[in-house]
Amino acid sequence: MKLLHIDSSISGGQSVSRQLTASIVARLKQTTPGLEITYRDLAIAPVPHQSPTILFAKMKALYEAGALADHIVEMVAATVQGGATVDASTQAEFAETNVVLDEFLAADIVVLGAPMYNFGIPSQLKAWIDCLASPGKTFKYTATGVQGLAGDKKLIIASSRGGFYTASSPMAFMDHQETFLTSFFGFIGISDAAFVRAEGVGLGPEQRKLALETALADVSVLKAA
Ligand SMILES: Cc1cc2nc3c(=O)[nH]c(=O)nc-3n(C[C@H](O)[C@H](O)[C@H](O)COP(=O)(O)O)c2cc1C
Repeated sequence: MKLLHIDSSISGGQSVSRQLTASIVARLKQTTPGLEITYRDLAIAPVPHQSPTILFAKMKALYEAGALADHIVEMVAATVQGGATVDASTQAEFAETNVVLDEFLAADIVVLGAPMYNFGIPSQLKAWIDCLASPGKTFKYTATGVQGLAGDKKLIIASSRGGFYTASSPMAFMDHQETFLTSFFGFIGISDAAFVRAEGVGLGPEQRKLALETALADVSVLKAA
């Protein structure tokens, strides 16, 4: 069984989400013999953000593989036949986005460290997620609507936030972190998603301690399957 462990907090040793993902991975390792772990630290080694040049490299590769959707094939064909090329640094960035996608596709379990920053997720985590949105690999459009193709995974999200945003909170409408993650991973077919949450960690040391204890108690009963 393969586990992909992702951290995205910029807070290093002070990070709550890093503490939670480390505990989740340790717990799953303990309960799952032979677990293979791949680790990515998006704050230390960010993946490339989407850009016009990476988008063109992706379109060109799909065009050359005959895998482009009908409605854009002519537009891309005209650009490619007009002599547009992909330079070496763009090619390397594009290749890295594919490695990120392949790593995700290969995983049976994904453990994601996802702090709330400015009501959403860290931009480094968004750049990683942008690598996963891949037609034909993680989702496809059908006559009856969208179909997620990545539903064979278990996802555990370590969510940390300074305030309170769960349903009964007056701030709930400002949560664009967990709601975004639920929407995105649902879109690509993952229904087996669980949050381990530490909330209100910015409200003082007591609440931070309580939030961590509550989250770690949730971790102690997690199972890989
Ligand atoms: C850049 C930055 C932006 C933040 N924005 C918010 C926010 O919008 N709402 C909130 O409740 N907490 C916010 N916080 C607090 C974090 O969500 C909280 O400290 C959480 O523990 C971060 O996870 P981490 O400790 O793993 O980095 C922010 C913290 C940072 C560093």
